[in-house]
Amino acid sequence: MKKIVTLDHNEASLLVAESIVNIVRAKKDACLGLATGSSVELVYANLVKFFEKGEMSFSGVTTANLDEYIGLPPSHPQSYRRYMNHNFFDLVDIDKANTYIPKGMEAPEIMLADFQNFLGSRTRDFQLLGIGSNGHIGFNEPAAFFEANAHIVTLDERTREDNSRFFGSIDEVPRQAVTMGVGDIMKASKIMLLVRGDNKKDALRELLSHDRVDPRIPCTILKCHSDVTVVFPKELAP
Ligand code: F6R
Repeated sequence: MKKIVTLDHNEASLLVAESIVNIVRAKKDACLGLATGSSVELVYANLVKFFEKGEMSFSGVTTANLDEYIGLPPSHPQSYRRYMNHNFFDLVDIDKANTYIPKGMEAPEIMLADFQNFLGSRTRDFQLLGIGSNGHIGFNEPAAFFEANAHIVTLDERTREDNSRFFGSIDEVPRQAVTMGVGDIMKASKIMLLVRGDNKKDALRELLSHDRVDPRIPCTILKCHSDVTVVFPKELAP
């Protein structure tokens, strides 16, 4: 596992954006696995800047997002479809028909079959990740075992508390989500994890400080992937 320690979150976000730009420049029809949340917002802002300067096109790119809340319509301000459109897709030249976000309003069997079909139909060249304060990746929450494939998950109370900052109150935070499984995430050729926030320090230490892989700290599975880069500002260094 490679780690890059930056001066601050701005530098970390730019560095991740530059890596994505390099991947897409080398392969115009790259398939990118994407994440949402506050950690990666500036990555998208930087990608949009590259596009606006005419240095970048996303017209051949396909994307697949990690997860979506169950029960929020795509138009809901906190749905991940809305986040992606607002922060990235609506601001660049990507063909929205080539952007996949799991369908959190569908019947569970249809939602999961559709997501797994999509994931099985192409290789992801890259996967962007943030991390939860409990170590989750995607919405793979701490558990006794890892789930390999896309599945519906009951969100950890800690995740609901963390994400309540985006909603009016914790009661408005959905209780369930659909997420790529750990196996799906690990199938991406290259993974970059961008860590932001003091509350991620413990999970980051578990990832970097020893060799154990523990489903109760889901990010530790990344130790088993051959091309993972963890990027974080120096104030979070364990
Ligand atoms: C979001 C996702 C989550 C977030 C994580 C961190 O698509 O998969 O794993 O990356 O919850 O969220 P922030 O960045 O808001 O702290």
